[in-house]
Amino acid sequence: MAESLPSVAHRPSRLLAVLEGEAANPPPVWLMRQAGRYLPEYREVRAKAGSFLDLCFTPALAAEVTVQPIRRFGFDAAILFSDILTVPWALDRGVRFVAGEGPRLDPLEGFAKLPEMNAKAVAERLSAVYEAATLARLALTEDVPLIGFAGAPWTVACYMVEGGGSRDFAAVRRQAFADPKGFAALIDGLVAVTVEHLGRQVEAGAAAVQLFDSWAGVLAPSAFRRWVIEPTRAIVRGLRKRCGKGLPVIGFPRGGGVLIPEYVAATGVDAVGLDTAVPVDWARIAIPATTAVQGNLDPMALLAGGKALDAEVDAILNGFAGRPFVFNLGHGIVPETPIAHVEALVARVRRSAAAR
Ligand code: CP3
Repeated sequence: MAESLPSVAHRPSRLLAVLEGEAANPPPVWLMRQAGRYLPEYREVRAKAGSFLDLCFTPALAAEVTVQPIRRFGFDAAILFSDILTVPWALDRGVRFVAGEGPRLDPLEGFAKLPEMNAKAVAERLSAVYEAATLARLALTEDVPLIGFAGAPWTVACYMVEGGGSRDFAAVRRQAFADPKGFAALIDGLVAVTVEHLGRQVEAGAAAVQLFDSWAGVLAPSAFRRWVIEPTRAIVRGLRKRCGKGLPVIGFPRGGGVLIPEYVAATGVDAVGLDTAVPVDWARIAIPATTAVQGNLDPMALLAGGKALDAEVDAILNGFAGRPFVFNLGHGIVPETPIAHVEALVARVRRSAAAR
C-alpha cells in the first residue's frame, strides 16, 4: 500500500476505511441482527414497546436498541433498528408479526392492480424510521458509523407475493416467469421506493447502507440476473446520484453462490456480504481484492461456541487477511445465542491483530 495513504488508525471509522478499499488489522466487526432477542436489554425495551412494529416506529426506543449492542460489545458499526418489511407496511400490505409464526402480509393477487408506489409518500409514512436514525446518530460516538438498510426489491417482492415467509418461494418464482412485465412493474416501483428510503436514512445520519437480498439464492441464473442484479444496479446508480459517489453500499445476495462475482461486477456495490455457504478460499480468488467482503461466520458456530467457534473465526480471519474485510456472520444472529459467545468472538477478532 502507498505510504502516503492515511492509515486506518487515523480514520474516524475503521468500517468506512475498509468499505473504501483499505485492509484493516484487526478487521472491523459487527453482526447482522446484532440488536435483538438474545440481549436482555432488548427484550426489556421490546416488552415496553408492545408490538415489534411499535418498536420500529417509536424513534426513541428504536434508537435505544440500535445503540445497545455497541454499548455492550463495542462493535465497529451500529445498524439501524428497523425491518425490511416496513416498506410493504407503508404500501398498505397489512404487515403484521404473529408470535412464533414470523411475518404475515396480505398477498398480492397478480400484478395488474399494484399498490400505488409513490416513493415520496412511502418515505413520508416512514418518517419515524429516519427520526430513529437521527437519534441513534446523536447517541453514537464519531468512530462508530450508523448503517442504514433496506430489503432488496426481489426479497421484498417475495414477501409481498407469498404473504409471508416460505420454504422455497415457489409462487413468486412462478409468477415472475409467467408475467415478467407485471412483475417488472412491481420491482421497478420497489427500486424507486428503496432509493428514497435509503436516501432519507443517509440524510438522517447513516454513513453506509446495506441491501438485504435474503432470498437471492432461490432463483435460476437468468432470473437472478433480471430480479437481483438489475434492480440492485439501478439502486446503486440511484443512490450515487442522490447521495454522491462516496456513499458506501454493501450488497448481501444471500445464496448467490457462483453468481456473486458477476453481482459484484455488474451492480457496482462497494462491498459484498457473503453467506455462510461461501468457501473463503474460493471468494478470495473469485472476488477482486478492490471490493470489500463481509462475512461469513455460521450463526450456528456462534451458538455452539468453544473450540469450534474459535476454529471457524480463525479460518475466516486468515482467509481474508490483507484484504479489505469486515468480520460478520453469514446470516442473522439467533435469539438463543449466549452473550458470552459474542464476547469471545469480538475478543478473538480484536486479538488477531497481535498475531499478524
Ligand atoms: O441487524 C439488525 O440488528 C437490524 C435490525 C434488523 C431486523 N430485521 C430486526 C428484526 C434487520 C437488518 C432485519 C432484516 C430482515 N428482516 C431481513 C433480512 C435479513 C434476513 O434475516 O434474512 C428479513 C428477511 C426480515 C423479515 C423479518 N423480520 C422476519 C422473517 C422476522 C421474523 C423472524 C423472527 O425472528 O421472529 C422479522 C422480525 C424481526 N426483525 C426481529 C428483529 C429483531 C424479531 C422480532 C422480535 O423482536 O420479536
